[in-house]
Order: sequence, then C-alpha cells, then structure tokens
Amino acid sequence: MNIWHITGGNRLEGAISVQGAKNAVLPIMAASVATGAETELDGVPDLRDVEATLRILRHLGCTAERTGTHVYIDSRDICRCDVPHTLMRELRSSVIFLGAILARCGEASLSLPGGCELGPRPVDLHLEALRTLGARVTERGGDIVCKAGALRGAPIVLPFPSVGATENAMLCALVAEGETVIHNAAREPEIVDLQTYLRALGAQVSGAGTSTITVSGMRPRAHVHHTILPDRIAASTLLCACAASGGDILLENVHPSHFLTVLDSLSEAGCDIITQSNAVRLRSDGSLIAPRPIVTRPYPGFPTDAQPPLMAACLKARGTTVFTENIFTGRYRHVEELRRLGADVTIAGRVAYISGVETLTGAVLTAGDLRGGAALIIAALAAEGESVIYDEQLIERGYDHLDRALGALGASVRFERRA
Ligand code: UD1
Repeated sequence: MNIWHITGGNRLEGAISVQGAKNAVLPIMAASVATGAETELDGVPDLRDVEATLRILRHLGCTAERTGTHVYIDSRDICRCDVPHTLMRELRSSVIFLGAILARCGEASLSLPGGCELGPRPVDLHLEALRTLGARVTERGGDIVCKAGALRGAPIVLPFPSVGATENAMLCALVAEGETVIHNAAREPEIVDLQTYLRALGAQVSGAGTSTITVSGMRPRAHVHHTILPDRIAASTLLCACAASGGDILLENVHPSHFLTVLDSLSEAGCDIITQSNAVRLRSDGSLIAPRPIVTRPYPGFPTDAQPPLMAACLKARGTTVFTENIFTGRYRHVEELRRLGADVTIAGRVAYISGVETLTGAVLTAGDLRGGAALIIAALAAEGESVIYDEQLIERGYDHLDRALGALGASVRFERRA
C-alpha cells in the first residue's frame, strides 16, 4: 500500500524531463522475444509494469536486466512458450506476449491479462487477427492456447482500431509467409515506436501512424538498440497538475504533436501554452474556464488515458465541462472520490458533467486505477488543506516516481510506502 499525503495550494514551477512512454515500452519488451536477439532499450521508465514485464521475460528464459533507464534483454535462448496466470494478471500489456511468443515458438499458452479495472476489456479482436493469419486459437475458461501451424500473410480488417490487437497482429505477421496488411489499424504514436523497434530488429513493416500497416516478413538482426519515445500521458498529467494548481512549468523530452488535443483543451481552459518540437511550457493562474466538450476517441482523438487528469483539472473551472468517454465504460471510477473533495460531477452513461466549484477541500481518498489515481493527485494539489490518498501501488504502474516529479516542481507531496 502506498499513501500520498498532499497539501494543496502550491504553485508548480520549474523544468522537468518527461519519462519514457509506458504504452510504448511494454509492447516493445514483449516484442523482444519475437526473434532471438539482444535488445538494448534506453529511456525506460521505472514502473511496476516494467518490472512485471521483466519477470515474464525471465520466466520465458530470457536474460532481462535493468540499470537505471537502460534495459538489456537477451531472448536468444528462450525455453518456454507459456506465461502463467500469476504473471499475466499483473498487467494488461502482457497480452502482447501472445503474438510475440507465437511468432517465435509456433505456439503460445497464456491466460487472460490483468490490468486496471476499466470495464470489459475483451481480446476477441486480438484472437480474430491471429486466426486470420492461420493460427488455431482455443479458449478455455480464462486460458488461451494458440498454435501457429502454417501462418500466411493476409488482409486483416479490424472492426475497431484496437491498439493491442494491432500490436499482436504486427508481431504474428512477422513470421507469416507473404504480406499482411492491417486495415483500420490503431494510429497511436506507440504503434509507430513499435514499428521503429521492429525495423531495427530486421522486420519489413511500414505504415504505422496511418490506418494501414503492411508487414512482409523479417531478416532478423542479432542486436538492436532503441530509445523509447516520451510519454504523452505522463506529460499531459503534469500539465493538468500545473493548470489546476497554477504555475509555470517547462516539460522537456516531449513531442507536443502527440497530445495536441490535450493542449487544445488546456488552452481553451485559459492556460498559456508555448510548444517547441521537444518541449512545452504551460502557465496557469489556476483560475480556469470550462473548455469545449471533450470526447475520448482513438488517436488522434482525445486520449482516454488523459480523461481523468483533465477532469481533475476542470473541477474548479468556471462553467460546465462535459466529458464523453467512448473507449472504456468503467472509466469514471475516480468521480466518486473527486466528490469527496467537494467536486460537483454528474454522470449520465458515458457522459460526465462537471460544474465548476469555487473551492475543493482536502479529504481521504482511494485510488481505483492508474489514471484515476493521477486525477486524485491533481485534484488534491488544487484543494485546500491536506488530502491522503490510499493507493494499492496503482499509480506506480504507469508513473515513474510521480511524487518526486511533483515535489521537484514545488508541490507538497509526501509519499509513504507501507508493507
Ligand atoms: C487502450 C487505448 C490506448 C492506451 C491503452 C493503455 C484506445 C483506442 N486505446 O489500448 O490508447 O494507450 O489503452 O491505457 O484509446 N476491444 C474489444 N475487443 C478487443 C480489444 C479491444 O472490444 O479484442 C475494445 C475495448 O473493450 C475498448 C476498446 O476496444 O472499448 C479499446 O481497446 P484497445 O485499443 O484494444 O485497448 P488497449 O490496447 O488497452
């Protein structure tokens, strides 16, 4: 159990370098088993999900070590093609091992992945994509067994641009004979980062960042070095914190073009934002106005992961802010906790209406999921008095020492780890 003691009211000031992207590093670490190679990754954030992925890699027989922000993986001698439930349930991204192990071993045996409770998170699109390439997939209870047989490249049409299904399809297609074209592919920057890594690994893959990705095989290389792209959600979270608390911060190691929708909303809310190619500066006097309605959509739409942090930033914004959550039905769990601080939020199905209040008052809160937990921290920073947030190590699944980052910017945050 982690406990966050936050005293609100401080302005955030200063410059900070943003961590590498959780949603890029986890699939890339999984992809490292798709061929037998040595992988060196830089810019790896210190996250609980990264630790869990290292444990999966070691279980498979890889050497997998981390030194600071550097991770070394040697997947040349993997000896297993299964991932037990105890490891799978630790994170959602473990499902990407399905395509990676299948590509490498010709079979894979996994259970359904874990991850944050955001409502139903099925894997039907992942399995259908693998079936289209010729894999035989059996599901029994919560277990999935895939056998490759003769994999053949084929057109895959995703009914929805699922990030995970796109990644699994890309990995499985590496070893399929002939060309695979993934239509309606997810366009997230993290998919582009996976393509960059796979190309360095010898894969012939193109089109990532568009809706059509083509994979036409691979000439494996022995050694690959890749730097993980900056985390657009961690950047958005810090900006929302500054918007809500007031202050003047400079984020370095960011690609502002990857979170333009978040920047637009913060700008509409009255923040002064200046972007450069690898930096963004945000100034806020802490007194915001409700931005235009926010609708979460697949990239390049507004990211579902930034919905809770932005909602927290808008709790005191003058007027009514309207959020529509289209990706995950269970993604308003933070709302009940925000109400404890005095927030005025009404939920009607997928839509949340936030009526700005004059003040928020510190309270005792419980984090229910990763991004929802970040939202509680942001709201606590903007509240009067002390808040205590109980957190079952959910926030460190995706944020690299968020307490230190906020502390360095002048926030009053005391982080306590209890056994
Ligand atoms: C999602 C986000 C991604 C974010 C990641 C981590 C979207 C579109 N995806 O990716 O940007 O980085 O969380 O928080 O915003 N679905 C199915 N069947 C499937 C797979 C998905 O019905 O087989 C549905 C899900 O229920 C959900 C939607 O598709 O409604 C989003 O899925 P997907 O993109 O696959 O989720 P993640 O890969 O977890």
